[in-house]
Amino acid sequence: MENQVIIFDTTLRDGEQALTASLSVHEKLQIALAIERLGVDIIEAGFPVSSPGDFHSVQEIARTVKNARVCALARAVEADIQACGDALSVAEQFRIHTFISTSDVHVQQKLRKGFDDVEAMAINAIKFARKFTDDVEFSCEDAGRTPIDNLCRIVESAIKAGATTVNIPDTVGYTLPNEFGGIIQQVFNRVPNIDQAVISVHCHNDLGMAVANSMAAVQAGARQIECTINGIGERAGNCSLEEVAMIMKTRQEFLGVHTNINHQEIARTSKLVSQLCNMPIQPNKAIVGSNAFSHSSGIHQDGMLKASNTYEIMTPESVGIAKTKLNLTSRSGRHVIKHRMESLGYKETDYDLAELYKDFLALADKKGQVFDDDLEALLFNIQQQDEKDFYSLETLNVQSGGGEFATASIKLAVGEQKVIEAATGNGPVDALYRAIKQAVDVEFEVTDYKISNKGSGEDGLGQAHLVVAWQGRNFHGYGLATDVIEASGQALIHCLNNISRAQTIAEIKEQKKEANG
Ligand code: KIV
Ligand code: ZN
Repeated sequence: MENQVIIFDTTLRDGEQALTASLSVHEKLQIALAIERLGVDIIEAGFPVSSPGDFHSVQEIARTVKNARVCALARAVEADIQACGDALSVAEQFRIHTFISTSDVHVQQKLRKGFDDVEAMAINAIKFARKFTDDVEFSCEDAGRTPIDNLCRIVESAIKAGATTVNIPDTVGYTLPNEFGGIIQQVFNRVPNIDQAVISVHCHNDLGMAVANSMAAVQAGARQIECTINGIGERAGNCSLEEVAMIMKTRQEFLGVHTNINHQEIARTSKLVSQLCNMPIQPNKAIVGSNAFSHSSGIHQDGMLKASNTYEIMTPESVGIAKTKLNLTSRSGRHVIKHRMESLGYKETDYDLAELYKDFLALADKKGQVFDDDLEALLFNIQQQDEKDFYSLETLNVQSGGGEFATASIKLAVGEQKVIEAATGNGPVDALYRAIKQAVDVEFEVTDYKISNKGSGEDGLGQAHLVVAWQGRNFHGYGLATDVIEASGQALIHCLNNISRAQTIAEIKEQKKEANG
């Protein structure tokens, strides 16, 4: 049996559908490029029929990504599959992933159909998808709770209809590892044409067993794992990519399988996804948590000093966590920054050194020492500014303390115009947000606001994360500055720019509709 396990990343589909605020096209593209660089084989970029924004981002990802195959999701209906074909056709090769539920509870309660109808819909959908591509994946949703006879029957029919990958999801994270491994084993033993397709698994983490179940499936013969960065996804999330990748690397001899993952890209990709998705990582999370390589007890520290393999089964460097932490100051030259970025895993072509150096000097002047985390935060901030923005905050003055009210005055660029506004509020952020609201013609509501420390030490950078609701949709934005009020202002402006992009996409879609009569 083939000993490469295909890594199918669904961060941008299953992961994204669980976020409070959807990602912009630019953010999805950034994640897709990071995932491509991580070495995943297949990127599930979205669900094109679900919204014009999703269609557009799937298309952009399919156009841009070259070293991974891009895939999109469709229910087992022609309109969904057509949308996948339309969005993906800009790529030379692509995959269409179509699915339908197969468990009794889903078939009877959700679909209100019989199993024969479901099987017929699956066959039709696969045949239709094959008209666009010869790479078609079929998923039996809720396979973990599907009677085994029905599961084997539909897997056989799907392969006969032309599915080249058949996915067996544990959609509700219900099974135990030996039980799920047993299901995969039975599928291999009972489906006569099983050798004509790759068997995939897609495990959710409701009982904390997504990774264990995926590995049990691999031991039973599955050769594709569907997973997400940091395990994000519906409810308790999906199988975590970094965990399965490091299991197959660390226990390769025992398991006898490998992946194409560039393990040293793990830490960086994980940070990017956590930032962009506004999903903090728990400190004790395996592989990428901030404590994953910290040793606290005296006995452990003593062991580590004698030999690191006493308490570390893999090194932090093997997942891309830099060993040395060098403190940089305004006296550090450009070449030092370039060298430091290289040790953090960034090639010179990944960023504009002149731009980063300019921001670095400004920060070093404000806070003295600049640490690795600060540099990465600055780079992250620059990357978010790559898009042309409709709004930008040019000046900001806030006064608070002592009195009853805080006051804020702002100058805002709104397209080609400059707008000046002032407002009072019950605190500096409230005053600032009221002034911005007066300056823009957008009815929004702030639904979540968080400030966190980015970078190192008491004088690290402040990062504001914001979620605003607009016309029934949530938009996420962030801002980074040494001053938390400024960071808060930038976060709101970021949200407003994301709203403005969503408006443009909706308008283009409307115009197209009108043009097509
Ligand atoms: O969890 C699930 O079953 C899914 C399918 C669409 C593969 O996400
Ligand atoms: Zn899922």
